[in-house]
Amino acid sequence: MFITFEGIEGSGKTTQIRHVLEFLKQRGMDCIVTREPGGTVTGQKIRAILLDPDSRGMDPSTELLLYVADRAEHVRKIVKPALSAGKTVLCDRYYDATIAYQGYARGLDMDLLSKLHRLIINDLKPDKTILLDLPPETGLSRAWKQIAEGKRAGFETRFENEALAFHEKVRKGYLELAHLEPGRFVVIDAMKDEEQVRQDIIKVLSLRAS
Ligand code: TMP
Repeated sequence: MFITFEGIEGSGKTTQIRHVLEFLKQRGMDCIVTREPGGTVTGQKIRAILLDPDSRGMDPSTELLLYVADRAEHVRKIVKPALSAGKTVLCDRYYDATIAYQGYARGLDMDLLSKLHRLIINDLKPDKTILLDLPPETGLSRAWKQIAEGKRAGFETRFENEALAFHEKVRKGYLELAHLEPGRFVVIDAMKDEEQVRQDIIKVLSLRAS
């Protein structure tokens, strides 16, 4: 099973993936946790370039190609081998992030995005995508608080520094994707507290994992 987690900055994906991992392991499932960008050795280098605040003037097409390069490496080296070995893959962001950020928010051509994805991932779709939804004001203030408390890397803030309007477009994009594929997406209200969000996600996954 391939499960992806999506959401804007500060939506709590990383924390909730940890909870899901624990839950699935208790049920005896063999799982791996991975992420984009940065799920491979090469990907970690690509991630450093993408999230460095010094890369703020990066051309949107350069940004797109770096995310796609990270994904090509990640899918071939990590995701496909794990799925072939019968493992459950929990992935912190996948191609929906490119559609939301580079497509809806940066305004890049959606057809180009589809073509690139067909090339690198073929038809590898997640079985379930958990979208943690909340208003960007709340997400961003959570993210900056975590950075101030050292719980989140302060050198990876290029996107946190984007204007609120950018994050609104990302959120809208994600919600539209969820609307287009209701069978795959589950939208979770991430304004609720951590434990409630955990329970909401587990409820959805229990139906699949049982
Ligand atoms: P995160 O690992 O902390 O979620 O940060 C990754 C950042 O990269 C986040 O701001 C979203 C952004 N991103 C894109 O813009 N496009 C993509 O395809 C992916 C995977 C992430």
